[in-house]
Amino acid sequence: MEQEADSTVLITGGAGFLGSHATLVLLEAGRSVVVLDDFSNSRPEALRRVAALAGLDGWTATAPGQWRAGPSTGVSLQVVTGDVRRVGDLEAAFAQAPIGAVLHFAGLKAVAESVRQPLRYWQVNVGGSLRLLEAMTAHGCRTLVFSSSATLYGLCEQVPISESAPVQPINPYGSTKAAVERLLADAAASEPGWRIACLRYFNPVGAHPSGRIGEDPSGLPNNLFPLVSQVAVGRLPQLQVYGCDWPTADGTGIRDYIHVMDLAEGHRAALALLEQESPQFLTLNLGSGRGHSVLELVRAFEAASGRPVPWQAAPRRPGDSAVSIADASAAQRRLDWRASRSLDECCRDGWAWQQANPHGYGD
Ligand SMILES: NC(=O)c1ccc[n+]([C@@H]2O[C@H](COP(=O)([O-])OP(=O)(O)OC[C@H]3O[C@@H](n4cnc5c(N)ncnc54)[C@H](O)[C@@H]3O)[C@@H](O)[C@H]2O)c1
Repeated sequence: MEQEADSTVLITGGAGFLGSHATLVLLEAGRSVVVLDDFSNSRPEALRRVAALAGLDGWTATAPGQWRAGPSTGVSLQVVTGDVRRVGDLEAAFAQAPIGAVLHFAGLKAVAESVRQPLRYWQVNVGGSLRLLEAMTAHGCRTLVFSSSATLYGLCEQVPISESAPVQPINPYGSTKAAVERLLADAAASEPGWRIACLRYFNPVGAHPSGRIGEDPSGLPNNLFPLVSQVAVGRLPQLQVYGCDWPTADGTGIRDYIHVMDLAEGHRAALALLEQESPQFLTLNLGSGRGHSVLELVRAFEAASGRPVPWQAAPRRPGDSAVSIADASAAQRRLDWRASRSLDECCRDGWAWQQANPHGYGD
């Protein structure tokens, strides 16, 4: 039942924070990649750097909004500017090469924005996934790794959180992730050939150790790590710490931070498993299994950067919880993979990126 493991992989959202690191890891593993991205939250420069890090030569424009690198190395990166919701753009991506598998990162990810613009979130995250699934079906491609999120657990009381915890999202973003998982489960149940992994990420942070690629949020970051790092580099004056009265050792919230390279390697492992084993539907947490408080992260970042990170206590935000930590044992067992990098390494690599690119790819 083994599937061809050297076919080209389509990576939607491959120019984004997580997708760019996963693209690099797959290219380094010898897989050719087609990226489909509308660059609504990223830049082509990220992929030019990915190609350079992977040792691919000849980054060239092949058509309006399309680039290619690596024609002489046997491994190639092809880039198509396009929207996962548009059939024509998906067709353009599938026309680049016979696609054997898809990593689906493209989507919107800001919780607060999803509360203000739920229809847009449903349209991009759910509508985009539906169009992608239709295109995969049309092209006989049935291997998919989906970017899900621990957000769909909502306010889970049980810590560490295992995959069997109830799915009870408390915001539209989480609802869209739960809906796509449901959609994928229905597709998998309808026909035996599907090989699908839903990977529920906890808090991906850090950057490639080269400092060449990393997280480049547009506007004010939504997540703690880029906020801390922008305070350290002087782009923001200070950090707001929401809630210093949680029932934790130092009163601040505890989260499970996973290095983006561990997460990218988790995708390579999930893809390998899907390709090696019989068709199946898999749901796995991707986290480190370790918890760190906000203040522990601040101190680790200060140590890594040698810069102060001034902070100010602010009231708790609705929808936050005291502790969120992954039970990562299922992924460790099934993927023969673990998040091996420490919080200090997350901060070291995140700082290398931030320091070399204080204004992201805009520099
Ligand atoms: N970063 C996190 O903390 C986190 C946590 C859990 C889950 N996720 C999920 O992982 C995925 C990737 O997250 P990220 O942090 O890399 O985000 P990101 O915004 O950096 O990357 C998403 C990429 O998708 C592209 N994109 C958005 N809409 C598109 C569309 N309609 N068509 C084509 N491309 C489109 C963007 O331009 C961007 O390059 C998302 O689905 C997100 O929900 C992220």
